[in-house]
Amino acid sequence: MIAQRARTFTESVIREMTRVAHQHGAINLAQGFPDFPMPEPMKDAACAAIHGDINQYAVTWGAPALRLAIAEKYRRWYDFEVDPDRDVTVTCGATEAMASVFLALVDPGDEVVVFEPFYENYGPDAVLAGATPLFVPLLAPDWRIDEERLAAALARRPKAIVLNTPHNPSGKVFTRAEMDLIARLVLEHDVPWVITDEIYEHIVYAGHHHPIATWPGMKERTVTISGLSKTFSCTGWRLGYAIAPPSATSAIRKVHDFLTVGAPAPLQAAAAVGMAFDADYFNHLMTGYRERRDLLCGALVEAGFTLTLPQGAYYVLCGFDQLSDKDDVSFARWLAAEVGVATVPGSSFYRESGDGRKLTRFAFCKKAETLEAAVDRLSNLRAVV
Ligand SMILES: Cc1ncc(COP(=O)(O)O)c(C=O)c1O
Repeated sequence: MIAQRARTFTESVIREMTRVAHQHGAINLAQGFPDFPMPEPMKDAACAAIHGDINQYAVTWGAPALRLAIAEKYRRWYDFEVDPDRDVTVTCGATEAMASVFLALVDPGDEVVVFEPFYENYGPDAVLAGATPLFVPLLAPDWRIDEERLAAALARRPKAIVLNTPHNPSGKVFTRAEMDLIARLVLEHDVPWVITDEIYEHIVYAGHHHPIATWPGMKERTVTISGLSKTFSCTGWRLGYAIAPPSATSAIRKVHDFLTVGAPAPLQAAAAVGMAFDADYFNHLMTGYRERRDLLCGALVEAGFTLTLPQGAYYVLCGFDQLSDKDDVSFARWLAAEVGVATVPGSSFYRESGDGRKLTRFAFCKKAETLEAAVDRLSNLRAVV
């Protein structure tokens, strides 16, 4: 007999598509993990930490050196003052940060605003906390906020709004004007919390990343979540963090402690090395991703997909209605089995509108040769559908 809460969400479609990719020998453009190596100095630092016997529990809320490196990074990049002792909790990935923040700040029965399409974890996070998501559409093709729906949702005085910028799956980077709008409405309706997932903060091709915590009046009600997975190409290290005002941080730390005790100690030591990399590293990361984006997106348009060029993150959500009558799940399974390219069906990013039925998401966090092999397989798609 399993608990009700575990019955109300399905297993991750993204990770299921990775298994489908293995089954068919398909190129995995479904799950967002790089197939190229992470930075050598961080690997060396991790090995040194293990050999140096940093192998026991770290401080529950994060090794002091890493929390300091996080605080320094926010000052350097965003002019955002973060207190490493009172504002930071290091977690097992942004995934655990988001779950711990939900459990620490959201009560059963609370409403939480989520933009749709959304990263699939936010739904189960809400269920685990007993909260009800209120979906606000981002309108294709340019993923504009539906302002009327946002104003109506925030007027209900939900407990929190979840932001994600740069955005998975659309590649949208929220503009300064959109941040102004969100901050104004949050303050007007006295919404207690903005929970912002900024894991793709360093992968921006157009515009700029704007942390909403730096808006006037927002620091006190914002929890900023980010992590190492995407910035340092180390999704397997499971390191993330939450930055929040001290009262929220105390609650988040308690939940985090009893869920995990702490994040891996030797990897935290190595993470501090990466957090201190200079601007060259981050520029190089972004330029590499822009080349991958252009390679894949150009080929997808030629193959017959419709898309809006992503401004950030490393995904592209594509329409396939000019290619096939199938629904998104059948299309993604067919594409993996018959063409040899695995993607994620669009419906896993939508709950309310069903708009995902003619969409599929490609990830381009792969080596040029992996993307070229996928492009080759997709090149005569029109002939085989
Ligand atoms: C928006 C978003 N948040 C969080 C994560 C997961 O981050 P982590 O590996 O730090 O748990 C992902 C991974 O794809 C993501 O796309």
